[in-house]
Amino acid sequence: MQELQNKIKDLLQKLDGLLVAHYYQKDEVVALADLCGDSLELSRKASMSEKNLIVFCGVAFMGQSVKVLAPHKRVIMPRLACCSMARMIDSEYFDESIALLESYGLSRDQIFPITYINSNADVKAKVAQMGGLVCTSANASKIFDFAKAQNKKIFFLPDRCLGENLAKADNKKSSLLRVDSKQKVLDSDVICYDGFCSVHQLFTPEDVAFYRNKFEDIKIVVHPECDPSVVDLADFVGSTSQIIKYVQDLPLEQKVAVGTEFNLVNRLRPKFESKQTTFVLSSSKPQCPTMNETTLQDVYDVLLAYEDNKPINEVFLDSEVQKWAKIALDRMLELS
Ligand code: 13P
Ligand code: SF4
Repeated sequence: MQELQNKIKDLLQKLDGLLVAHYYQKDEVVALADLCGDSLELSRKASMSEKNLIVFCGVAFMGQSVKVLAPHKRVIMPRLACCSMARMIDSEYFDESIALLESYGLSRDQIFPITYINSNADVKAKVAQMGGLVCTSANASKIFDFAKAQNKKIFFLPDRCLGENLAKADNKKSSLLRVDSKQKVLDSDVICYDGFCSVHQLFTPEDVAFYRNKFEDIKIVVHPECDPSVVDLADFVGSTSQIIKYVQDLPLEQKVAVGTEFNLVNRLRPKFESKQTTFVLSSSKPQCPTMNETTLQDVYDVLLAYEDNKPINEVFLDSEVQKWAKIALDRMLELS
């Protein structure tokens, strides 16, 4: 392991590369990364870095976001792993969704689309072409406030839970496209696309009840990709970096159960007087399969191929998609 780590460090130095890892990556990858963060921080910081080569350990939409924001950079990914939620929508499904809303009597200029950053660049481009923008879990309520001020129906995609959670927190009516009736969709302020995160679906109200029964004063902390029935019961809801800050600011003896990806939760805090005070809010192990694909060997292999002038897993984007996706991301960055 040590030998592999050293070889990676040497190659990164030689190629002047920046190793970037999302918080959900394996410990071995996070330990070696120059930069670790949530999806918003990573796309912003990696695109602004002085380094020309970005080695992105995460899922495909994250590497794409760096390429969109900084097209002159070379972005390679040790694994071209795909977020399963991002795969639930593409530009065709987006067009079909808008066509369905038009068939309900809404015109395009009555619809304001917001796409969660967990979507591919072609979807972000479509959203920008309709005047919309991107949000992440870290800035979702700010972007939602901006969207409300447009006085249109908000079309939130692809994560139905984040969309419903935002609507609920603001006393707005939400509906699910293709699930709810035409009338319910037309009566709602926020129309959500029916996508979801299979990992965050694992957390249930029963898990919250289990931990509250077990430890009277426990804090429940969840990511907003969790179902609204779980979010309603939580003491704190936030993005990955907001969760880290909230939990690490608590006294170590304060027990906390966290509803997000296992790798992040497992690294959150040391034990208190040899006793565990940080728990995963689930009876099963909530590991994101695609985030967990990347290994140190993959990082080494992708760097070696790049050094050999035979790059693998390099991120390339169609220029039109790149241009419009950048507009969607820039609109978000201006507001956040
Ligand atoms: P963050 O934006 O909080 O990093 O979350 C990304 C993600 O994929 C959560 O499942
Ligand atoms: Fe996608 Fe869920 Fe994995 Fe996050 S945890 S990358 S939303 S599948």
